[in-house]
Amino acid sequence: MEQKCLLSSLILASLFISTSCSQPKKALRFETGNFTEETRTVQTSSGEKEVTYKAYLHIPYVSNPVDTDYQSLNIYVPISINGSPIDPSSAPILFDIAVGGFMSVNNAKVKEPSYRGDLSLAAGYVVVAPGCRGWDNCSADGTYYGKAPAAIVDLKSAIRYLRHNERELPGNTEHIISVGCSAGGALSALLGASANNSLFTPYLEEIGAADASDHVFATACYSPITDLEHADMAYEWMFGSTPTSSGLVDQELSEQLKSDFSKYQLSLNLQGKDGFGLLTAENYRDYLTTYYLVPSLTKFLNESPNIQREEYLKRNAWITWENGSPNFKFDDYVTHVGRLKGLPAFDDFGKGQPEPLLFGNEITNARHFTDFSLRHTSKNIDANVEEEVRKLVNMMNAFYFLKNNEGEIAQHWWLRNGTSDNHTSQTVMINLAAKLENMNKNVDTWIFWDGDHCADNDPEGFITWIETITRD
Ligand code: DHB
Repeated sequence: MEQKCLLSSLILASLFISTSCSQPKKALRFETGNFTEETRTVQTSSGEKEVTYKAYLHIPYVSNPVDTDYQSLNIYVPISINGSPIDPSSAPILFDIAVGGFMSVNNAKVKEPSYRGDLSLAAGYVVVAPGCRGWDNCSADGTYYGKAPAAIVDLKSAIRYLRHNERELPGNTEHIISVGCSAGGALSALLGASANNSLFTPYLEEIGAADASDHVFATACYSPITDLEHADMAYEWMFGSTPTSSGLVDQELSEQLKSDFSKYQLSLNLQGKDGFGLLTAENYRDYLTTYYLVPSLTKFLNESPNIQREEYLKRNAWITWENGSPNFKFDDYVTHVGRLKGLPAFDDFGKGQPEPLLFGNEITNARHFTDFSLRHTSKNIDANVEEEVRKLVNMMNAFYFLKNNEGEIAQHWWLRNGTSDNHTSQTVMINLAAKLENMNKNVDTWIFWDGDHCADNDPEGFITWIETITRD
């Protein structure tokens, strides 16, 4: 059914001209003199730092924009730290993606760096904050203009803009590090995995992206919500037997999805660390526990003062602690975390989650993107997701590109999550880690104990990591 995004769209359409055809072509030149000078005080572990920087705000990064509120970026260039001038000409460039829920980022409203941006400026890095379209974008005539793959196309265009202006732009465009959390983490992973892939070419041409490469040097993904077409299966593998606040989900459907996950996991053919062998639905509990959860809990408990550790262990009797080593059953850990979402967790039958909304099109707000949900709601056991949707799903999934292993895939990956994140299964990010490790990438992975969705207990660790990977 066709759904316009504004009820009064027909009336509005007669009053306004669609933004998509009213804006003039813009020269994609970076104007070095067009900045304001700002100063901020940044708290770091080595004390307060006063950072003075040039702020270049709201620069359109494509020559044929659909909406410059979104298809624009900010650049912050540090010029002095605690009064001492610095030379940012070859500094790393942090590409700071603010997307959440696969929704748009309105760059016209962003005037200041994020906390990660602040820390990066205090370390002398250049910071770029791009806007981009998202599933919520809707024009005056009732057209959705930010459905998949708009966000990734925009972010690639922003990277191309930076490289197109590499001579004028302070910072080293061969040291671009993308970062984002959740949907932003998925987009960061996609930038790292899909550089210059020809699937995006017509979309990039349509909006007038600069003719330059869109590869990134490194990518940081906090709680990445990726591998969307397999996320429902993975969610049931992890949370299928854990009640939501309104009880257990349909156990028969949950079992079907779990069984699909077993097959999918085998098809990935991923090898675990240290000769662990093939990662399967059966051994994944052990793998997560041994390689990620126990180390995380060990650090947490060892760093807690004695009295707090004792209290924590008393409150969490499912954890044993002997000679400085904790242990627990995976199922008790999952009970501790709890289930957040219903079934299916992503391609929900009511199409109200961000993901079916992401896979809508210009005239349809939300579409199913898995055969499982399409078959269930259409009551047609032979129904298949259309080829067009399947292609869009691929274009939003870092795994699709990693599997094909083409183009310039980022060499350095920083993956972070919280152990209590229940927005997606822990297997999603750890599969990403395993895939990249199997490809001999430099992967730094950690899951913060009791950390939630987008947890970041070590923001300066990330800043130091950037310094390490860009040093030579
Ligand atoms: C985000 C969270 C979700 O649970 C999801 O399905 C998609 C995106 C987010 O926080 O960006």
